[in-house]
Amino acid sequence: MTVSGDENHPASSDIADTTAAATAPAKETASDIPEATAASTSATAEPTKAAEAVPEPAVAAAETSAPTGTSAIPPALDSALAAALGSAPAPAPAASEAATGPATATEANITGNIEAAPSADGQTTETETTEDTDDAPGFSDTDSAVGSLDYTSLASLTDSIREFRHENGRTYHSLSAGKYWCPNDDPENSRLDLQHHAHRLTFDGALCCCPKEAGAKRVLDLGTGTGIWSMEYADEHPDAEVIGVDLSPIQPEFVPPNCSFEVDDVEKEWTWGRPFDFIWWRALLGCFSDPQAMVQKCFDNLEPGGYLEMHDGTFPLECDDGSMPEDCALLQLANLAREGSARLGRPLDVSPNYAKMMENAGFVDIVFGKYKWPTNPWPRDRKMKTLGHWTLANVEPGLEGLFLALLTRGLNMTAEETTVLCAAARKDLRNPSIHAYWPAYYCYGRKPE
Ligand SMILES: C[S@@+](CC[C@H](N)C(=O)[O-])C[C@H]1O[C@@H](n2cnc3c(N)ncnc32)[C@H](O)[C@@H]1O
Repeated sequence: MTVSGDENHPASSDIADTTAAATAPAKETASDIPEATAASTSATAEPTKAAEAVPEPAVAAAETSAPTGTSAIPPALDSALAAALGSAPAPAPAASEAATGPATATEANITGNIEAAPSADGQTTETETTEDTDDAPGFSDTDSAVGSLDYTSLASLTDSIREFRHENGRTYHSLSAGKYWCPNDDPENSRLDLQHHAHRLTFDGALCCCPKEAGAKRVLDLGTGTGIWSMEYADEHPDAEVIGVDLSPIQPEFVPPNCSFEVDDVEKEWTWGRPFDFIWWRALLGCFSDPQAMVQKCFDNLEPGGYLEMHDGTFPLECDDGSMPEDCALLQLANLAREGSARLGRPLDVSPNYAKMMENAGFVDIVFGKYKWPTNPWPRDRKMKTLGHWTLANVEPGLEGLFLALLTRGLNMTAEETTVLCAAARKDLRNPSIHAYWPAYYCYGRKPE
Protein backbone atom coordinates (compact mmCIF):
# COMPACT_ATOMS: atom_id res chain seq x y z
CA MET A 1 0.00 0.00 0.00
CA THR A 2 1.20 3.45 -0.83
CA VAL A 3 0.72 6.39 1.44
CA SER A 4 1.57 9.80 0.16
CA GLY A 5 0.35 13.20 1.05
CA ASP A 6 0.33 16.77 0.06
CA GLU A 7 3.59 18.12 1.37
CA ASN A 8 1.81 21.36 2.06
CA HIS A 9 -0.94 19.71 4.01
CA PRO A 10 0.67 18.89 7.32
CA ALA A 11 -0.79 16.40 9.68
CA SER A 12 -4.41 16.53 8.90
CA SER A 13 -5.78 14.23 11.55
CA ASP A 14 -6.97 11.41 9.33
CA ILE A 15 -4.98 11.11 6.20
CA ALA A 16 -4.60 8.04 4.11
CA ASP A 17 -3.33 8.73 0.66
CA THR A 18 -3.16 6.42 -2.23
CA THR A 19 -1.13 6.69 -5.34
CA ALA A 20 -1.90 4.77 -8.43
CA ALA A 21 -1.76 4.52 -12.15
CA ALA A 22 -4.96 5.78 -13.63
CA THR A 23 -6.59 4.15 -16.54
CA ALA A 24 -8.48 7.14 -17.79
CA PRO A 25 -10.93 6.42 -20.55
CA ALA A 26 -10.50 8.22 -23.80
CA LYS A 27 -12.03 11.65 -23.77
CA GLU A 28 -15.64 11.39 -24.76
CA THR A 29 -17.40 13.64 -27.15
CA ALA A 30 -20.99 13.92 -28.16
CA SER A 31 -22.51 14.82 -31.44
CA ASP A 32 -26.09 15.13 -30.41
CA ILE A 33 -26.44 17.93 -27.92
CA PRO A 34 -29.71 19.03 -26.41
CA GLU A 35 -30.58 22.68 -26.14
CA ALA A 36 -28.53 24.60 -23.64
CA THR A 37 -29.08 27.64 -21.53
CA ALA A 38 -26.89 29.17 -18.81
CA ALA A 39 -26.57 32.10 -16.50
CA SER A 40 -23.72 34.06 -15.05
CA THR A 41 -23.55 36.93 -12.64
CA SER A 42 -20.97 39.25 -11.22
CA ALA A 43 -20.71 40.48 -7.69
CA THR A 44 -22.32 43.68 -8.78
CA ALA A 45 -25.12 42.05 -10.66
CA GLU A 46 -28.64 41.43 -9.51
CA PRO A 47 -28.85 38.18 -7.61
CA THR A 48 -28.82 35.31 -10.01
CA LYS A 49 -32.28 34.05 -10.69
CA ALA A 50 -32.16 30.44 -9.64
CA ALA A 51 -34.59 27.93 -10.98
CA GLU A 52 -37.15 26.84 -8.47
CA ALA A 53 -35.95 24.68 -5.68
CA VAL A 54 -34.58 21.55 -7.17
CA PRO A 55 -33.41 18.13 -6.10
CA GLU A 56 -30.23 16.34 -7.01
CA PRO A 57 -29.65 13.49 -9.30
CA ALA A 58 -30.08 10.54 -7.12
CA VAL A 59 -27.78 7.79 -7.94
CA ALA A 60 -28.27 4.21 -7.23
CA ALA A 61 -25.61 1.63 -6.92
CA ALA A 62 -25.35 -0.41 -10.04
CA GLU A 63 -25.05 -4.01 -8.99
CA THR A 64 -21.76 -4.30 -10.70
CA SER A 65 -18.43 -4.83 -9.15
CA ALA A 66 -15.56 -3.33 -11.02
CA PRO A 67 -12.28 -2.30 -9.48
CA THR A 68 -12.09 1.35 -8.63
CA GLY A 69 -10.18 3.24 -11.23
CA THR A 70 -11.35 1.10 -14.09
CA SER A 71 -14.44 1.63 -16.15
CA ALA A 72 -17.59 0.24 -14.60
CA ILE A 73 -19.59 0.90 -17.71
CA PRO A 74 -21.82 -1.97 -18.71
CA PRO A 75 -20.94 -3.00 -22.27
CA ALA A 76 -24.43 -2.18 -23.52
CA LEU A 77 -24.07 1.38 -22.31
CA ASP A 78 -20.54 1.58 -23.56
CA SER A 79 -21.80 0.92 -27.09
CA ALA A 80 -24.68 3.33 -26.62
CA LEU A 81 -22.23 5.98 -25.53
CA ALA A 82 -19.92 5.28 -28.43
CA ALA A 83 -22.87 5.59 -30.78
CA ALA A 84 -23.89 8.89 -29.25
CA LEU A 85 -20.46 10.47 -29.24
CA GLY A 86 -18.54 11.93 -32.04
CA SER A 87 -17.94 15.65 -32.10
CA ALA A 88 -15.26 17.54 -30.24
CA PRO A 89 -15.94 18.65 -26.68
CA ALA A 90 -17.51 22.03 -26.27
CA PRO A 91 -14.70 24.45 -25.51
CA ALA A 92 -14.75 26.19 -22.15
CA PRO A 93 -14.83 29.95 -22.34
CA ALA A 94 -11.39 31.50 -22.47
CA ALA A 95 -10.09 32.74 -19.14
CA SER A 96 -9.83 36.29 -20.38
CA GLU A 97 -13.36 36.11 -21.72
CA ALA A 98 -14.67 34.86 -18.42
CA ALA A 99 -12.69 37.37 -16.45
CA THR A 100 -14.25 40.20 -18.35
CA GLY A 101 -17.59 38.47 -18.59
CA PRO A 102 -20.97 40.11 -18.49
CA ALA A 103 -21.97 42.07 -15.45
CA THR A 104 -25.35 40.48 -15.42
CA ALA A 105 -26.43 37.02 -14.55
CA THR A 106 -26.24 34.37 -17.19
CA GLU A 107 -28.29 31.23 -17.13
CA ALA A 108 -27.81 28.13 -19.16
CA ASN A 109 -29.85 25.02 -19.45
CA ILE A 110 -28.05 22.06 -20.86
CA THR A 111 -31.44 20.70 -21.68
CA GLY A 112 -34.68 22.46 -22.34
CA ASN A 113 -37.96 20.65 -22.24
CA ILE A 114 -37.36 17.12 -23.35
CA GLU A 115 -39.56 15.69 -26.05
CA ALA A 116 -40.72 12.15 -25.43
CA ALA A 117 -40.21 9.44 -27.98
CA PRO A 118 -43.45 8.60 -29.77
CA SER A 119 -43.62 4.99 -28.72
CA ALA A 120 -42.81 3.11 -25.57
CA ASP A 121 -39.37 2.30 -26.83
CA GLY A 122 -37.60 3.06 -23.60
CA GLN A 123 -36.64 -0.43 -22.70
CA THR A 124 -34.70 -1.01 -19.56
CA THR A 125 -31.05 -1.56 -20.13
CA GLU A 126 -29.67 -4.58 -18.42
CA THR A 127 -26.58 -3.91 -16.41
CA GLU A 128 -23.95 -6.55 -16.66
CA THR A 129 -21.74 -7.60 -13.86
CA THR A 130 -18.12 -6.96 -14.54
CA GLU A 131 -15.44 -9.13 -13.16
CA ASP A 132 -14.23 -8.22 -9.72
CA THR A 133 -10.50 -7.89 -10.03
CA ASP A 134 -9.60 -7.02 -6.47
CA ASP A 135 -6.93 -9.67 -6.67
CA ALA A 136 -5.56 -8.46 -9.95
CA PRO A 137 -2.04 -7.11 -10.16
CA GLY A 138 -2.02 -3.47 -9.23
CA PHE A 139 -4.55 -3.81 -6.46
CA SER A 140 -2.45 -5.60 -3.89
CA ASP A 141 -1.91 -3.98 -0.51
CA THR A 142 1.72 -4.99 -0.73
CA ASP A 143 2.38 -3.00 -3.85
CA SER A 144 4.00 0.36 -3.46
CA ALA A 145 4.71 3.18 -5.83
CA VAL A 146 6.23 5.43 -3.23
CA GLY A 147 8.90 4.58 -0.73
CA SER A 148 10.38 6.04 2.43
CA LEU A 149 7.18 6.70 4.31
CA ASP A 150 6.55 5.74 7.90
CA TYR A 151 3.87 3.13 7.46
CA THR A 152 3.99 2.13 11.13
CA SER A 153 2.77 5.46 12.42
CA LEU A 154 -0.03 5.57 9.92
CA ALA A 155 -1.06 1.95 10.17
CA SER A 156 -3.54 2.20 13.02
CA LEU A 157 -5.10 5.31 11.55
CA THR A 158 -5.41 3.67 8.19
CA ASP A 159 -6.90 0.58 9.80
CA SER A 160 -9.52 2.54 11.71
CA ILE A 161 -10.78 4.44 8.70
CA ARG A 162 -11.04 1.15 6.84
CA GLU A 163 -13.28 -0.34 9.50
CA PHE A 164 -16.44 0.66 7.72
CA ARG A 165 -19.78 0.86 9.50
CA HIS A 166 -22.30 -1.80 8.58
CA GLU A 167 -25.93 -0.78 8.29
CA ASN A 168 -28.80 -2.59 6.56
CA GLY A 169 -26.42 -4.79 4.62
CA ARG A 170 -24.29 -1.92 3.28
CA THR A 171 -21.05 -0.33 4.49
CA TYR A 172 -20.62 3.36 5.31
CA HIS A 173 -17.66 5.61 6.11
CA SER A 174 -16.20 5.48 9.61
CA LEU A 175 -14.43 8.85 9.72
CA SER A 176 -16.98 11.36 11.07
CA ALA A 177 -19.35 8.40 11.06
CA GLY A 178 -22.99 8.96 10.21
CA LYS A 179 -22.77 12.31 8.46
CA TYR A 180 -22.89 11.10 4.85
CA TRP A 181 -25.88 9.23 3.44
CA CYS A 182 -24.54 6.93 0.70
CA PRO A 183 -22.69 3.66 1.22
CA ASN A 184 -19.02 3.29 0.32
CA ASP A 185 -19.07 -0.32 -0.88
CA ASP A 186 -18.37 -1.83 -4.30
CA PRO A 187 -21.86 -1.36 -5.74
CA GLU A 188 -21.85 2.32 -4.76
CA ASN A 189 -18.33 2.86 -6.05
CA SER A 190 -19.21 1.28 -9.39
CA ARG A 191 -22.24 3.52 -9.54
CA LEU A 192 -20.08 6.58 -8.94
CA ASP A 193 -17.77 5.64 -11.80
CA LEU A 194 -20.72 5.05 -14.10
CA GLN A 195 -22.21 8.38 -13.03
CA HIS A 196 -18.93 10.10 -13.86
CA HIS A 197 -19.23 8.93 -17.45
CA ALA A 198 -22.80 10.21 -17.58
CA HIS A 199 -21.44 13.59 -16.51
CA ARG A 200 -18.84 13.53 -19.26
CA LEU A 201 -21.49 12.64 -21.79
CA THR A 202 -23.68 15.48 -20.53
CA PHE A 203 -20.89 18.00 -21.01
CA ASP A 204 -19.70 16.61 -24.33
CA GLY A 205 -16.57 15.10 -22.88
CA ALA A 206 -15.47 18.07 -20.82
CA LEU A 207 -14.29 17.45 -17.27
CA CYS A 208 -15.48 20.89 -16.18
CA CYS A 209 -17.21 23.93 -17.64
CA CYS A 210 -15.04 26.78 -16.34
CA PRO A 211 -11.84 28.02 -17.99
CA LYS A 212 -9.86 25.49 -15.93
CA GLU A 213 -10.90 22.88 -18.52
CA ALA A 214 -7.80 24.18 -20.28
CA GLY A 215 -5.58 23.37 -17.27
CA ALA A 216 -4.79 24.49 -13.73
CA LYS A 217 -1.81 24.58 -11.39
CA ARG A 218 -3.15 23.25 -8.11
CA VAL A 219 -6.52 21.52 -7.94
CA LEU A 220 -8.64 20.33 -5.00
CA ASP A 221 -11.38 17.76 -5.67
CA LEU A 222 -13.73 17.91 -2.68
CA GLY A 223 -15.47 14.63 -1.81
CA THR A 224 -13.56 12.87 -4.58
CA GLY A 225 -15.34 9.51 -4.11
CA THR A 226 -13.52 6.90 -6.19
CA GLY A 227 -11.18 9.63 -7.42
CA ILE A 228 -12.05 9.09 -11.07
CA TRP A 229 -12.44 12.81 -11.85
CA SER A 230 -9.12 13.64 -10.14
CA MET A 231 -7.27 10.95 -12.03
CA GLU A 232 -8.69 11.92 -15.39
CA TYR A 233 -8.02 15.62 -14.79
CA ALA A 234 -4.46 14.79 -13.73
CA ASP A 235 -3.98 12.61 -16.81
CA GLU A 236 -5.25 15.28 -19.13
CA HIS A 237 -3.26 18.04 -17.42
CA PRO A 238 0.14 16.63 -16.46
CA ASP A 239 1.29 20.04 -15.22
CA ALA A 240 -1.50 20.29 -12.67
CA GLU A 241 -1.11 19.02 -9.11
CA VAL A 242 -4.43 17.36 -8.22
CA ILE A 243 -5.49 16.47 -4.67
CA GLY A 244 -8.66 14.49 -4.03
CA VAL A 245 -10.07 14.34 -0.49
CA ASP A 246 -12.82 12.13 0.88
CA LEU A 247 -14.22 10.63 4.08
CA SER A 248 -13.68 7.13 2.67
CA PRO A 249 -10.42 5.54 1.49
CA ILE A 250 -12.01 4.17 -1.68
CA GLN A 251 -9.52 5.51 -4.20
CA PRO A 252 -7.10 3.34 -6.18
CA GLU A 253 -3.54 2.90 -5.02
CA PHE A 254 -1.98 3.57 -8.38
CA VAL A 255 -2.65 7.03 -9.69
CA PRO A 256 -0.98 9.50 -12.03
CA PRO A 257 2.16 10.99 -10.49
CA ASN A 258 0.52 14.41 -10.28
CA CYS A 259 -2.51 13.09 -8.37
CA SER A 260 -2.84 12.16 -4.70
CA PHE A 261 -5.66 11.32 -2.34
CA GLU A 262 -6.28 12.14 1.28
CA VAL A 263 -8.89 10.91 3.70
CA ASP A 264 -10.28 13.79 5.69
CA ASP A 265 -13.48 15.56 6.64
CA VAL A 266 -13.67 18.82 4.71
CA GLU A 267 -16.21 20.21 7.15
CA LYS A 268 -13.34 20.41 9.60
CA GLU A 269 -10.55 22.97 9.47
CA TRP A 270 -8.55 22.93 6.25
CA THR A 271 -4.82 22.67 6.83
CA TRP A 272 -3.49 22.82 3.29
CA GLY A 273 -0.62 25.22 3.33
CA ARG A 274 -1.02 26.75 -0.11
CA PRO A 275 -4.10 28.04 -1.90
CA PHE A 276 -5.55 26.36 -4.97
CA ASP A 277 -6.35 27.86 -8.33
CA PHE A 278 -9.22 25.43 -8.98
CA ILE A 279 -11.61 23.74 -6.54
CA TRP A 280 -13.97 21.10 -7.94
CA TRP A 281 -17.17 20.03 -6.16
CA ARG A 282 -19.48 17.42 -7.71
CA ALA A 283 -22.33 15.28 -6.40
CA LEU A 284 -21.99 16.58 -2.86
CA LEU A 285 -25.68 17.20 -2.25
CA GLY A 286 -26.69 16.28 1.25
CA CYS A 287 -23.07 16.30 2.43
CA PHE A 288 -22.84 19.59 4.27
CA SER A 289 -24.75 21.05 7.18
CA ASP A 290 -23.82 24.57 6.05
CA PRO A 291 -23.22 24.69 2.28
CA GLN A 292 -22.78 28.48 2.34
CA ALA A 293 -19.93 28.10 4.85
CA MET A 294 -18.35 25.48 2.59
CA VAL A 295 -18.55 27.78 -0.43
CA GLN A 296 -16.92 30.47 1.70
CA LYS A 297 -14.18 28.06 2.70
CA CYS A 298 -13.52 27.36 -0.96
CA PHE A 299 -13.32 31.08 -1.68
CA ASP A 300 -10.90 31.61 1.20
CA ASN A 301 -8.66 28.78 -0.03
CA LEU A 302 -8.47 29.94 -3.64
CA GLU A 303 -5.78 32.23 -4.92
CA PRO A 304 -6.96 35.46 -6.59
CA GLY A 305 -8.23 34.58 -10.06
CA GLY A 306 -8.95 30.99 -9.00
CA TYR A 307 -12.19 29.17 -9.81
CA LEU A 308 -14.74 27.13 -7.86
CA GLU A 309 -17.01 24.87 -9.92
CA MET A 310 -19.94 22.98 -8.38
CA HIS A 311 -22.27 20.37 -9.90
CA ASP A 312 -25.17 18.88 -7.99
CA GLY A 313 -28.58 17.43 -8.49
CA THR A 314 -31.54 18.36 -6.39
CA PHE A 315 -34.72 16.69 -5.14
CA PRO A 316 -37.40 15.74 -5.97
CA LEU A 317 -37.66 14.65 -9.60
CA GLU A 318 -39.32 16.93 -12.13
CA CYS A 319 -41.56 16.40 -15.13
CA ASP A 320 -42.50 18.97 -17.76
CA ASP A 321 -45.55 17.35 -19.34
CA GLY A 322 -47.65 16.15 -16.40
CA SER A 323 -46.97 12.47 -17.08
CA MET A 324 -45.61 11.80 -13.57
CA PRO A 325 -48.57 11.11 -11.23
CA GLU A 326 -48.37 13.11 -8.01
CA ASP A 327 -48.96 9.94 -6.00
CA CYS A 328 -46.54 7.65 -7.81
CA ALA A 329 -44.11 5.71 -5.63
CA LEU A 330 -41.05 7.23 -7.28
CA LEU A 331 -42.09 10.78 -6.46
CA GLN A 332 -43.10 9.71 -2.95
CA LEU A 333 -39.67 8.17 -2.45
CA ALA A 334 -37.90 11.28 -3.69
CA ASN A 335 -40.03 13.54 -1.49
CA LEU A 336 -39.35 11.37 1.54
CA ALA A 337 -35.63 11.46 0.81
CA ARG A 338 -35.78 15.24 0.65
CA GLU A 339 -37.63 15.35 3.96
CA GLY A 340 -35.27 12.85 5.60
CA SER A 341 -32.23 14.84 4.51
CA ALA A 342 -33.73 18.03 5.91
CA ARG A 343 -34.39 16.35 9.24
CA LEU A 344 -30.81 15.10 9.29
CA GLY A 345 -29.65 18.68 8.80
CA ARG A 346 -27.99 18.10 5.42
CA PRO A 347 -30.61 18.95 2.80
CA LEU A 348 -30.54 17.49 -0.70
CA ASP A 349 -32.15 20.47 -2.40
CA VAL A 350 -29.65 23.31 -2.13
CA SER A 351 -28.03 23.37 -5.57
CA PRO A 352 -30.63 25.78 -7.03
CA ASN A 353 -29.11 28.34 -4.63
CA TYR A 354 -25.49 27.83 -5.63
CA ALA A 355 -25.21 31.02 -7.69
CA LYS A 356 -26.48 33.09 -4.78
CA MET A 357 -24.12 31.31 -2.39
CA MET A 358 -21.17 32.04 -4.67
CA GLU A 359 -22.17 35.65 -4.95
CA ASN A 360 -22.49 35.89 -1.14
CA ALA A 361 -18.99 34.44 -0.78
CA GLY A 362 -17.47 37.07 -3.07
CA PHE A 363 -17.17 35.24 -6.39
CA VAL A 364 -17.62 37.14 -9.66
CA ASP A 365 -18.36 36.14 -13.26
CA ILE A 366 -20.68 33.44 -11.94
CA VAL A 367 -22.15 31.06 -14.50
CA PHE A 368 -25.15 28.97 -13.47
CA GLY A 369 -26.92 26.34 -15.55
CA LYS A 370 -29.35 23.47 -15.32
CA TYR A 371 -29.17 20.01 -16.82
CA LYS A 372 -31.55 17.07 -16.79
CA TRP A 373 -31.05 13.35 -16.57
CA PRO A 374 -34.12 11.46 -17.85
CA THR A 375 -35.17 8.62 -15.56
CA ASN A 376 -35.10 6.16 -18.48
CA PRO A 377 -34.70 6.30 -22.28
CA TRP A 378 -38.08 7.96 -22.79
CA PRO A 379 -36.87 11.08 -24.69
CA ARG A 380 -36.86 11.32 -28.47
CA ASP A 381 -33.57 13.24 -28.62
CA ARG A 382 -30.70 10.83 -29.21
CA LYS A 383 -28.34 12.21 -26.62
CA MET A 384 -31.09 12.53 -24.01
CA LYS A 385 -32.20 8.97 -24.75
CA THR A 386 -28.64 7.77 -24.21
CA LEU A 387 -28.48 9.72 -20.95
CA GLY A 388 -31.73 8.03 -19.99
CA HIS A 389 -30.09 4.63 -20.47
CA TRP A 390 -27.16 5.70 -18.33
CA THR A 391 -29.35 7.19 -15.64
CA LEU A 392 -31.53 4.11 -15.38
CA ALA A 393 -28.45 1.90 -15.14
CA ASN A 394 -27.12 4.27 -12.49
CA VAL A 395 -30.20 4.62 -10.31
CA GLU A 396 -32.35 1.55 -10.79
CA PRO A 397 -30.12 -1.22 -9.43
CA GLY A 398 -29.20 0.69 -6.32
CA LEU A 399 -32.33 2.46 -5.18
CA GLU A 400 -32.14 0.83 -1.77
CA GLY A 401 -28.50 1.83 -1.30
CA LEU A 402 -29.34 5.42 -2.05
CA PHE A 403 -32.41 5.77 0.08
CA LEU A 404 -32.03 3.40 3.04
CA ALA A 405 -29.98 5.74 5.20
CA LEU A 406 -32.08 8.82 4.47
CA LEU A 407 -35.38 7.11 5.23
CA THR A 408 -34.30 4.97 8.18
CA ARG A 409 -32.03 7.53 9.85
CA GLY A 410 -34.01 10.60 8.89
CA LEU A 411 -37.60 9.43 9.10
CA ASN A 412 -37.34 6.35 11.34
CA MET A 413 -38.81 4.15 8.65
CA THR A 414 -37.80 0.50 8.82
CA ALA A 415 -35.49 -1.05 6.26
CA GLU A 416 -38.41 -3.27 5.20
CA GLU A 417 -40.72 -0.30 4.62
CA THR A 418 -38.02 1.42 2.62
CA THR A 419 -37.37 -1.67 0.53
CA VAL A 420 -41.06 -2.09 -0.30
CA LEU A 421 -41.30 1.55 -1.40
CA CYS A 422 -38.14 1.17 -3.50
CA ALA A 423 -39.64 -1.87 -5.23
CA ALA A 424 -42.72 0.14 -6.19
CA ALA A 425 -40.60 3.12 -7.24
CA ARG A 426 -38.49 0.89 -9.45
CA LYS A 427 -41.55 0.18 -11.63
CA ASP A 428 -42.10 3.92 -12.12
CA LEU A 429 -38.44 4.40 -12.84
CA ARG A 430 -38.61 1.94 -15.73
CA ASN A 431 -41.93 3.19 -17.08
CA PRO A 432 -41.33 5.08 -20.37
CA SER A 433 -44.75 6.70 -20.09
CA ILE A 434 -43.54 8.71 -17.11
CA HIS A 435 -41.42 11.51 -18.56
CA ALA A 436 -39.57 12.41 -15.40
CA TYR A 437 -36.00 13.55 -14.98
CA TRP A 438 -33.51 14.24 -12.22
CA PRO A 439 -32.72 17.95 -12.33
CA ALA A 440 -29.20 19.19 -11.65
CA TYR A 441 -27.27 22.46 -11.65
CA TYR A 442 -23.75 23.50 -12.38
CA CYS A 443 -22.25 26.74 -11.19
CA TYR A 444 -18.83 28.28 -11.38
CA GLY A 445 -17.26 31.57 -10.51
CA ARG A 446 -13.95 33.37 -10.16
CA LYS A 447 -12.32 34.84 -7.08
CA PRO A 448 -11.50 38.47 -7.92
CA GLU A 449 -7.88 39.44 -8.40
C1 LIG B 1 -21.82 11.14 -4.36
S1 LIG B 1 -20.14 11.02 -3.93
C2 LIG B 1 -19.40 12.00 -5.21
C3 LIG B 1 -17.99 11.59 -5.52
C4 LIG B 1 -17.32 12.43 -6.62
N1 LIG B 1 -17.30 13.84 -6.29
C5 LIG B 1 -17.96 12.20 -7.94
O1 LIG B 1 -18.58 13.11 -8.48
O2 LIG B 1 -17.80 11.09 -8.48
C6 LIG B 1 -19.95 12.10 -2.52
C7 LIG B 1 -18.64 11.89 -1.84
O3 LIG B 1 -18.46 12.94 -0.88
C8 LIG B 1 -17.80 12.40 0.23
N2 LIG B 1 -18.04 13.27 1.39
C9 LIG B 1 -19.22 13.53 1.98
N3 LIG B 1 -19.05 14.37 3.03
C10 LIG B 1 -17.72 14.63 3.10
C11 LIG B 1 -16.92 15.39 3.98
N4 LIG B 1 -17.46 16.07 5.00
N5 LIG B 1 -15.59 15.42 3.77
C12 LIG B 1 -15.04 14.73 2.75
N6 LIG B 1 -15.74 13.98 1.87
C13 LIG B 1 -17.08 13.93 2.05
C14 LIG B 1 -18.41 11.01 0.37
O4 LIG B 1 -17.60 10.16 1.15
C15 LIG B 1 -18.56 10.58 -1.08
O5 LIG B 1 -17.46 9.83 -1.51
